[in-house]
Amino acid sequence: MNWFNEFVLPEAKSTYASDVDALFFFLNASSFVIFAGTMIAIVYFILRYRRKSENDQTPLITHNTTLEIAWSVIPLILVLIVFGWGFKGHLEMRNVPDDAYEVKVTGFKWAWRFNYANGAVSPNELHVPAGRPIKLVMSSTDVIHSFYVPDYRMKQDVVPGRYTTVWFEAPEPGESIVFCTEYCGTSHSDMMAKVIVHEPEDFKLWLESNKAPTKIENPIAYGETMVKDNACLTCHSLDGSEMVGPSFYGVFGRAEVMADGTNLTVDENYIRESILNPQAKIVEGYAPVMPTYQGAFTDEQIGAIIEYLKTVK
Ligand code: CUA
Repeated sequence: MNWFNEFVLPEAKSTYASDVDALFFFLNASSFVIFAGTMIAIVYFILRYRRKSENDQTPLITHNTTLEIAWSVIPLILVLIVFGWGFKGHLEMRNVPDDAYEVKVTGFKWAWRFNYANGAVSPNELHVPAGRPIKLVMSSTDVIHSFYVPDYRMKQDVVPGRYTTVWFEAPEPGESIVFCTEYCGTSHSDMMAKVIVHEPEDFKLWLESNKAPTKIENPIAYGETMVKDNACLTCHSLDGSEMVGPSFYGVFGRAEVMADGTNLTVDENYIRESILNPQAKIVEGYAPVMPTYQGAFTDEQIGAIIEYLKTVK
């Protein structure tokens, strides 16, 4: 069974993954046995009971009680096993252990952000300690996304206007990929993150060294943090390469042609407007897909982003 799971499924890296795999294997195996039995019977009956001459008569058979009970009771037992097994697994996945470490997850077009109790923020990387249950409290700022980690056999919708929770425990340090599995627009397929499982000691160190900057002492550094933490770089490159949105490389002071044919030079006001009302002036050749950040940033934060963008060249 292990060789089969390893062949068809990604490596099982959470505490409950092997239960999910076992049930999946049982469903496959029992389906295969029933399928093979049905096919063999069909072929056998075709050969055995085919009409051999013009005068061949079909014998009159009304019913067979033993057979009918068997083909009702055996499938009933099978589905009850699947129900009981699945329900047990479902309860295990829904009931978060009391000592779980909590991380806040935000899904937005088109990235994931992870917030920790001490103020640390990590865009597109979920850092967790090994051997400890992790509770994710998740929400979306725009449309429905879905948080899916195949290695953990874990998937949960992330919905705007409410919180959903899910938990997992990864016994070993390592890395796994997170996918968004709810179609959410242009860069849905790029909406990926990584789970990085640390040794508990290393996780403490990571958490300490990633404490959030609390004050805007250095606007350029703060602006850089804002840009990275809000995953602006999912759509805007820093090196001039083409992505969903115009590159940040040399953006400040750049002369752009807009979709409506007008020209403008990128200045403070244009950047501010593009953050708060992204559809107002679209650079030619780009799709109007950026979500608004109205209400999400303070003027001070927007100012810091502008100061940082001036330095990207
Ligand atoms: Cu987010 Cu698809």
